[in-house]
Amino acid sequence: MLKDRRGIEVSTDNVQALAAFDDAVDGYVTFRVDTTKRLADALKADPGFFLGNVLKGAMALLSLNAKNLERAKAALARATAIAAGATLRERRHLDAFDAWAAGDIDQALRAWESILAVHPTDLLALRLTHFHYFWLGRAARMLDSVVAARRGWNGDTPGRSWVASMEAFAREECGEYAEAEHLAREAVAYDPDDRWGVHAAAHVLEMQGRTSDGMAWLDATERCHVGANNFVFHLTWHRALLQMEKDGPDGLLAWYDARVRDLASPLVQALPDLYIDLQNAASLLWRLEHLGLEAGSRWHELADKAEARIGDGANLFTLPHLAMALAADGRFAAADRLIEAAGAIESPTFGPIAAGVAVPACRAAVHHRRGEWADVVRWLMPVRDDLWRLGASHAQRDLLWQMLVDAARKAGDERAVTTLMAELTAMRPVSAEQRRAYARTA
Ligand SMILES: [Fe+2]
Repeated sequence: MLKDRRGIEVSTDNVQALAAFDDAVDGYVTFRVDTTKRLADALKADPGFFLGNVLKGAMALLSLNAKNLERAKAALARATAIAAGATLRERRHLDAFDAWAAGDIDQALRAWESILAVHPTDLLALRLTHFHYFWLGRAARMLDSVVAARRGWNGDTPGRSWVASMEAFAREECGEYAEAEHLAREAVAYDPDDRWGVHAAAHVLEMQGRTSDGMAWLDATERCHVGANNFVFHLTWHRALLQMEKDGPDGLLAWYDARVRDLASPLVQALPDLYIDLQNAASLLWRLEHLGLEAGSRWHELADKAEARIGDGANLFTLPHLAMALAADGRFAAADRLIEAAGAIESPTFGPIAAGVAVPACRAAVHHRRGEWADVVRWLMPVRDDLWRLGASHAQRDLLWQMLVDAARKAGDERAVTTLMAELTAMRPVSAEQRRAYARTA
């Protein structure tokens, strides 16, 4: 039995397969576009490599796309069939992915946490734990898990700086901006291709309203775009947000076309309906329209993707974006179907959040497009303290707050406006009054 890059036993005797597998895990953690190829190389070298087969199923799950669920389950079933020589840790990974495939993310998290308790340098378990706490909005848990695992890492452990990036991002979401920025900048200085570190610092600069610093940071770190997967479009989305705040929306539709939603990009062509891309795109178009630009026909292709994903509950924060795109393209009947399907999502973890939070957020998005301001307030105001349960970051969820505040103002609901502006100001170092998205309300 061999040991992986961080000294944990892995049930393969094939050195080449293990090296490719280690590369695949590193590639996943650093958002590399060739991660799938690296994994394929591992399985080519050793088709019976248990954890490699498990990761193959996991890759299909990581797309957060319901159409890949059966493929994921089939790959996990193949792994189950060859589990005889697997270690306990490896079997726990399979348990976690099986739970995820069944929609029980809490059970999956318990499995990964149990791995980390024994093997804190299991990079895959650590990153997946980080990932799911993020998409469940549990920022404090995201921080706790990485701080707990950190004890197993020292300066020589391969990937140590990536752990620092995870800690940086978690601290940012917990409002610990100075420590977050320090960790992120150090991590990126060590590994300029540490895209999560680049991203963590960008979040700090966004939250602190340091727009020029943020733009300079993302420009200076652009070399990390080479070899990146679609996460690159999330970085360019952040760049757009910073510029919008600093200089206003002018020029950003061209940026959207060229850098955020370039339909000719090989990355977009390979994954035209990737959840994070749809979020970035819908979110940026909505924000630009909010500041007075006309997105026009750009909504159309997003609405096509949205309509094809009705009933897909793999990622809840995506849902209001899909509703936004459908409504913006005038497809109100499809938006109704999306909402109905969202209310019926079968998942022990996501089901209650979908019905209780995602559905009101989707309804609000549709009412906003129809100009039914009081209805936006009626749906969104009661759930605003639960929006974190949809997952994602403060910066991403701000879209829903912009929508709510805008509607409250247009509905003439002064009490709601006053309350919301105070709450927003309490959330960030920069008061709502100072931010462009809330300027008209202020
Ligand atoms: Fe982000």
